[in-house]
Amino acid sequence: IFSQVELAPADPILGLTDAFKADPRDEKVNLGVGIYKDESGKTPILKAVKLAEEKLLATEMSKSYLGMEGVQAYNRAVQSLLFGADHTVVNNARALTAQAPGGTGSLRVAAEFLVRHTKSDTIWVSNPTWANHHNIFNSAGLKTKSYGYYKAETHGLDFDAMKADLEGAKEGDLVLLHGCCHNPTGIDLNEVQWQEIAELCLSKSLVPLFDFAYQGFGAGVEEDAEGLRIVASIVPELIVANSFSKNFGLYNERIGAITVVAGNDAEAVNAFSQIKSTIRASYSNPPAHGALIVSTILEDESLKLMWQQELQEMRERIAEMRALFVQSLKESGVSQDFSFISTQNGMFSFSGLNKEQVSRLKNEFGVYIVGSGRISVAGMTKTNMPNICKAIAAVL
Ligand code: LMR
Repeated sequence: IFSQVELAPADPILGLTDAFKADPRDEKVNLGVGIYKDESGKTPILKAVKLAEEKLLATEMSKSYLGMEGVQAYNRAVQSLLFGADHTVVNNARALTAQAPGGTGSLRVAAEFLVRHTKSDTIWVSNPTWANHHNIFNSAGLKTKSYGYYKAETHGLDFDAMKADLEGAKEGDLVLLHGCCHNPTGIDLNEVQWQEIAELCLSKSLVPLFDFAYQGFGAGVEEDAEGLRIVASIVPELIVANSFSKNFGLYNERIGAITVVAGNDAEAVNAFSQIKSTIRASYSNPPAHGALIVSTILEDESLKLMWQQELQEMRERIAEMRALFVQSLKESGVSQDFSFISTQNGMFSFSGLNKEQVSRLKNEFGVYIVGSGRISVAGMTKTNMPNICKAIAAVL
């Protein structure tokens, strides 16, 4: 049977990491995948995480199965991070959360649940969006359609196109929204625009599905949740898929969650029961370690403070790299205005480089960025910056 199987195309993001690893050049730099690097070019384990792990090593008494929904203290902590301590969807028991394996696993569980148990068959995603979104949703059986988001001429948001396209969606369609730090553009909605999109979803009976993978990488943990909290106050039903890969640096622990918000508590219970049965049919129940790390940190005031400080350091280092990137491009003789890079949020910068320039960067200079022109600013350091900018100047 395997003789008929064709070779899969390389993944647009993780496939780059494979190619990067096989590249023998010393000066190569991977600005493809979104992984935070510190000034020495390493991806550190946060101190708060190490301390939580020490605590767990000393106190964990069993490796017995978790329930299908995972660690309950973790699920409660997720809700406070997403909605704040006092949001009506939490107080009225309209939100229920299940631990899931990272952002991708959470999105996949959401999609499987929606396909099997609701009438929704189409999800609208921004153009452009994270390279894996179409893949996840199509694999689960949802159709994907695109709404306008990015205006190349201004390197900014095309809010009119976004609204016009979503006006054309049909009742019950899903709308994928990036909670903050839009991937790949780094361009987010402001408060007024969130409000308008929430009202549009309400009036057209569209259901938002939030992909929330960068909380704390924009303006701060609370500030970055503003859009979600506005939408959750206006729209009766939504789903959130969140991830702690980036903001806790727990990439390989695969720790995230799916939160369903229903119109009332009874409907939330029903929807949640089907989310649990979707989990049972996929991987039965989740692994514990990542969730225990996160809940140990969030339940301990001093560990939580330490985490917040470490997250702030990551956020500030990326902001510093953005400014240095703009300045170094100028110093490398690039005349084009790249100042828009300083206004983008999160790990990524959408550079506007075309496919040919991207492939020259890789082939001639060992600088790996995603085919769409997305650059992971979080992988830049003061040391690798001059070479990166010289290479970009050369391909421009
Ligand atoms: C990215 O966009 O680089 C990250 O979310 C990692 C991934 O899985 O693609």
